[in-house]
Amino acid sequence: MPESPTRTVVISGATDGMGRATALERLRRGDTVIAIGSNGAKGRSLVAEAGAGDRLRFIQADLSSLAEIDRTIGEIKQHSGGVDALVLFANRQSPKRRETPDGLEHTFALYYLSRYLLTRELTPLLDASSNPVIISVAGVGNKAGEIHWDDLQLTRRYSTIRAQLQAGRANDLLGVAVAKHCKARFVMYHPGFTRSGDTGMFNPVIRLALTVLGKVAARSVASAVEPIHGFIDNPPEQPLTAIDRGKHVDPSLRTLDPAAADRLATVTEELLKGL
Ligand SMILES: NC(=O)c1ccc[n+]([C@@H]2O[C@H](COP(=O)([O-])OP(=O)(O)OC[C@H]3O[C@@H](n4cnc5c(N)ncnc54)[C@H](OP(=O)(O)O)[C@@H]3O)[C@@H](O)[C@H]2O)c1
Repeated sequence: MPESPTRTVVISGATDGMGRATALERLRRGDTVIAIGSNGAKGRSLVAEAGAGDRLRFIQADLSSLAEIDRTIGEIKQHSGGVDALVLFANRQSPKRRETPDGLEHTFALYYLSRYLLTRELTPLLDASSNPVIISVAGVGNKAGEIHWDDLQLTRRYSTIRAQLQAGRANDLLGVAVAKHCKARFVMYHPGFTRSGDTGMFNPVIRLALTVLGKVAARSVASAVEPIHGFIDNPPEQPLTAIDRGKHVDPSLRTLDPAAADRLATVTEELLKGL
């Protein structure tokens, strides 16, 4: 049983898909939720559907922007004395390479760097909880892709998949690094192909193919997020847990290399100092 009957949960990417479903269920269970997303209309629709009064705070922010991440963290600190669970969903695919106002490749900034910064900056609030947990929903267990150490911003050979895989592997390494020194337990969770995900950025042919494939091969959002509630209510004992489609991931996997995790943390700090 959880030590505290209700929890304060921060969710990045809470306005759609799995993040939205998680937010609604946490509210239904009596938790307080801080929901982050970039789309104001979707945020307002979440607030209306939840009907949770002041237990739900929506922060509209573009998490690909460092200034917006900073503002978001400031708002969270202003309104919360502690955070029991930080659940990270925010991601969006970019068919073409594009840069954020900070000059970073968009997928790197949104999918990896926002998770890095939210984790780093919310650590004091997580430390204030008796049983804190961070859950990063991404693609752990997947061995495809790599960190392009000499071209993290993918200036040379960009593709949507290359960018997604690099940021996914970076998130794997983030979990390994954070688990070494944080009180909060870190859970990396790969739900598998799920009937969610914005496809609006793709051409109509790809969109149709993804919709059809989703109908026949993907799992429901409700079943994909179910384990997340278990992690929030009863955080695992061990510092790091990695689950790929229901199975524990071998921690000796090449993509979870502790030396690479330290290297990425150092490179990320240097990058941030230069911005
Ligand atoms: N769906 C799958 O099959 C699948 C499989 C494996 C892993 N995953 C991973 O699971 C996570 C959630 O996936 P999903 O299918 O639930 O995605 P989704 O339905 O597309 O939801 C993505 C969320 O991210 C938010 N977001 C996107 N850009 C943002 C920005 N610039 N600033 C702030 N928030 C932003 C969106 O909110 P706004 O629109 O309001 O910005 C939305 O709430 C992702 O990390 C994805 O890679 C998904």
